[in-house]
Amino acid sequence: MKKADAAAQKTLLDARLGRMRLAISRAKLDAFLLTHASDIQYTTGFSGHDSVAILTPRSLVIITDSRYAEEVEADAPHVRAIIRKGSMEEAIAKAVAGLKSGKLGFESSHTTYGTIANLKKSLSKSGRAIKLVGVSDLTTVVRSIKDVAEIQTISQAIDVAEQSFMQVIRKVRPGKTEGQVAGELILAMRSRGATDASFQPIIGAGAHSSLPHYRPDDTVIQNNEPLLIDWGATYRGYRSDLTRTVFLGKPSAKMEKIYKIVLEAQLAGIAAIKAGADCSEVDAAARSVIKKAGFGKQFGHSLGHGIGLDVHEEPRLHVSRKGRPLQVGQIVTVEPGIYLPGVGGVRIEDDILVSEAGPVVLSSLEKSFEWATQVIGG
Ligand code: GLY
Ligand code: MN
Repeated sequence: MKKADAAAQKTLLDARLGRMRLAISRAKLDAFLLTHASDIQYTTGFSGHDSVAILTPRSLVIITDSRYAEEVEADAPHVRAIIRKGSMEEAIAKAVAGLKSGKLGFESSHTTYGTIANLKKSLSKSGRAIKLVGVSDLTTVVRSIKDVAEIQTISQAIDVAEQSFMQVIRKVRPGKTEGQVAGELILAMRSRGATDASFQPIIGAGAHSSLPHYRPDDTVIQNNEPLLIDWGATYRGYRSDLTRTVFLGKPSAKMEKIYKIVLEAQLAGIAAIKAGADCSEVDAAARSVIKKAGFGKQFGHSLGHGIGLDVHEEPRLHVSRKGRPLQVGQIVTVEPGIYLPGVGGVRIEDDILVSEAGPVVLSSLEKSFEWATQVIGG
């Protein structure tokens, strides 16, 4: 890493560390054990596997092993790295030696029972009265608000995904399989600098489009059918997440009808986004359009979710999130759908930045019904 880059990275990470430390002290913890790769990347810049980080009010340390020794020095030059030789839990117990007593927090949804059980043993062997405290969503809430660098990188992840989609969709023809289209999309995204797809692309042809999380196989794409494509790119660790439903040949009147309802619902959901808007009410803004049209039961999932280093993050746009207001800097998907089993489904998904003034739609692919019927082969 060049000197200037390292200095810029340090400024960025210091601001993130400040917010993490505030959250840790508000939770009345003395230190925090980060075990989730995205949390470690966020606070240190290091993205190797099988590693942890420990954050206290005054220190930050990464514990990794020799496979990542060179990488950790390059990616996290400002952070002390311990290259462990023994077990991870022993290394953690040793690293918190400065804490004679106190509360060591950890993310309960990302830390295994085995790690905690072994860590308890290692801590008690070393004779320290450290209490392990599982908390949920401490780091995810901090990470939900993106800084300028993150907004830029997510925008690049969106660009890569959109350009790749346009390259691939124009060449879809009846006779190709769903799996081929998935492979072409991944290749196109990696050719544009993505390290991977942000999740295995969902490519649902015909009636498969009614399965919201369908996994593509060797099904041959046919004429006069919908094709639902839900995909995204991972770019410098950050993920985009988009969905378009397009048509080969002539769509049925039923598909046209539900496409137009889903589009209207999506636009209503996007319009409801602004700082302070209640997450459950943003969901309701889109859902009420679908309910009113008589398809409420055919839209089972939530309206959307945050994206960032993980593809599903805080905040969630869901009925259960009453009383949780959106905040400036959060980036959420808005992805309503109508799914008719055995017939087909429509979902349309974009990525939206929350601002004081309202929604900033970061994705830019078209989505009118006319576009959806003409884009293949166009
Ligand atoms: N892109 C898949 C999902 O958000 O569930
Ligand atoms: Mn999504």
